[in-house]
Amino acid sequence: MEASHVSHKSYSPSSAWGKYPVLKALLVQVVSLTFCLISAFIAKKYFGYIFSSRAFLFLLSFHSFLSLFIALLFKSEWWWCAIAFIFPVGVALGLYLQISSALSLAVFLFLFFIFGTTFTTRVPYFPSHPSLSETLLDILPDKKKLHLLDAGSGFGGLLIDLSERRPGWELTGIEISSVPWLFSFLRSKILGCENVKFQLGSYEHLNFEKFDVVFVYLSPVVMSEIWKKVQYEMVPGSIFMSYEFPVDGKPPSFEIQMNENGEVLYVWQM
Ligand SMILES: C[S@@+](CC[C@H](N)C(=O)[O-])C[C@H]1O[C@@H](n2cnc3c(N)ncnc32)[C@H](O)[C@@H]1O
Repeated sequence: MEASHVSHKSYSPSSAWGKYPVLKALLVQVVSLTFCLISAFIAKKYFGYIFSSRAFLFLLSFHSFLSLFIALLFKSEWWWCAIAFIFPVGVALGLYLQISSALSLAVFLFLFFIFGTTFTTRVPYFPSHPSLSETLLDILPDKKKLHLLDAGSGFGGLLIDLSERRPGWELTGIEISSVPWLFSFLRSKILGCENVKFQLGSYEHLNFEKFDVVFVYLSPVVMSEIWKKVQYEMVPGSIFMSYEFPVDGKPPSFEIQMNENGEVLYVWQM
């Protein structure tokens, strides 16, 4: 057991610039757009340059490459670099195709209520493989009253499946995004799953001490932070599991290759 336990303490996450990469992404676009506009202004004023559609395409490409360059300079993650590159082209295309603003707003709101929290959590929603519950049932003891947490429970599929197959277990899901949480909450009520509780909020503010098992399926960028919380709060004998994402420098007690797609479940016996 590698973790050092400090009982009755809870881990407080640190806040940092790196925690809000969307601000960095916004800054990238503002800086590159400003630079492009200044360049266009200088070209027009001092060289009398007339802007043809070809020149516009050149300026747009310049904006995209400049955004990519600045994102790399800011050491953004690769997907933010890709977004920085695609964003100017996406905006220009939307304007060119004159997509209705009501449709754009509806799509934006739909996506925002599912993925909006990703801007702060850096963990998007995507479901785990349906065979995961089978694997958990295979490796977890079939004892009554096992208390399991899914930290970031999404639309609740995993816990609802487990609840039907282990009615004696106490299952808790916590989800920060409101639409997935509401969906899982209503689904558990409609299906009458009495041993599942879905909470709306961040696992960062939930003490892990009372759980026998904590399961996460999050993202590589939060694994070292959640590991600190696990070390502080989980008690000896409990189990921490991460689907797909290992913790750097913390070898698991064992790991299970889930299916032919290569997804792995990492398990730490605390
Ligand atoms: C990859 S999905 C996994 C969903 C589900 N556990 C499953 O196995 O299908 C990760 C979920 O964690 C949620 N999440 C991310 N950060 C969170 C936080 N700090 N507190 C609670 N939920 C969070 C996301 O909104 C997303 O729904």
